[in-house]
Amino acid sequence: MKFTEKKVAAKNSFIRNSSSMLKNVFGTTEVTPFWIADMDFTIAKPIQQELQRLVERNQFAYENDSATVFNAISGWFKRRHNLTLSSNQFVQVPGVLAGIALLIRELSQDGEGVLIQTPAYHQFAKVISGAGRDVVKSPLQLVNGRYEVDYSDLEEKLSADNVTLMILCNPHNPVGRVWREHEIRQIQTLAEKHGVTIISDEIHADIIYSGHKFTSLMATGAEKHVALIGSPAKTFGMQSISNGYIYSENQEIFDTMSKLSQSLYIDHGNAFTTFATIAAFDQGGEWLDGFLQQMQETVEWIASFLAEKLPNVTMTPVEGTYQVWLDFSKLGYSNDGLVKLFGDAGFGVSPGTWFGENHGQFARMNFAAPKADVESAFLRLQAAISSASGQYNGCGGSASKSCC
Ligand SMILES: Cc1ncc(COP(=O)(O)O)c(C=O)c1O
Repeated sequence: MKFTEKKVAAKNSFIRNSSSMLKNVFGTTEVTPFWIADMDFTIAKPIQQELQRLVERNQFAYENDSATVFNAISGWFKRRHNLTLSSNQFVQVPGVLAGIALLIRELSQDGEGVLIQTPAYHQFAKVISGAGRDVVKSPLQLVNGRYEVDYSDLEEKLSADNVTLMILCNPHNPVGRVWREHEIRQIQTLAEKHGVTIISDEIHADIIYSGHKFTSLMATGAEKHVALIGSPAKTFGMQSISNGYIYSENQEIFDTMSKLSQSLYIDHGNAFTTFATIAAFDQGGEWLDGFLQQMQETVEWIASFLAEKLPNVTMTPVEGTYQVWLDFSKLGYSNDGLVKLFGDAGFGVSPGTWFGENHGQFARMNFAAPKADVESAFLRLQAAISSASGQYNGCGGSASKSCC
């Protein structure tokens, strides 16, 4: 069943619409939310049908089937990424962040360091410090407009005595890189040299644009490391009805996590997560192809709009994920001024400071929304920049207004 661009008009309590959140960040609720990484679209028909089947059956005795879920994920990864994953090496957890939180607690000690590559998905730091570990940051480098790994900084940080874990985000949220195989191998070589285990967060694995190819860490370093693989949340827009799946071929890690998940009684989903996940991975491929096609068109539209109409706002190439990392530094706003501009324009993006203290001139936009909504948001942004140009000349300090 094909992807169609439909969204829910009915009243809802989606977090993205939270008035306290919007007011707190933008000073107003009058913004179109592009901040949280979910989808403003209805889901694929086969998933909806499974959910409907359960609702219509109207009986909810204990029911779950992790073995069939693991087979569905494994089949999907074989078909979609030509990656062979053994159905016996999955451990079910309530979500990807929950899985990372558990892994950090089990695979490191109090006070040890966990490395992240900044700018980084903001919840990583919270999960690390919440577990009583140090957040160790290795900044990515912007080289000719694209983020790259700074291997010498990475090695220096990995070699610190207390660093025992690294979270690799592949594809990377927020910068949209899909790490190439040689990059993953180099990161892995450094991690192994310094005795660091990599937790590879691959939740965005299926959101890959043309010309790019996803390489799982499990294709290059299965025996030593661990991945959060197979969550249907981002791929199928199932953020509120999905689980997380840890995958490891390292028997020690697998046994530890399996035992933990069982002992906490979190090693299974409920009927909704179970059957929705199976339907998604068994039957969601055609829908995903249509969705990716639309996302590709949206991101291409954003790139040409910026190049033609707002050349002082730039973006790094989006290789994967439905997030675009926007750079506003040429406009000459203060960090707070920039967030005020977003509020004035109703442009509800995530401020860059969420992803790293040095990124106040950036913002992350989740563009998994109807194209018309994305386009009108950029038009409002353009208008807000122009109308503020008396106060902010919009040209990085230049007197000329013709540049934007
Ligand atoms: C890289 C990454 N990991 C994890 C999550 C959250 O996953 P979950 O909702 O399964 O905890 C997100 C959501 O935005 C994400 O971008």
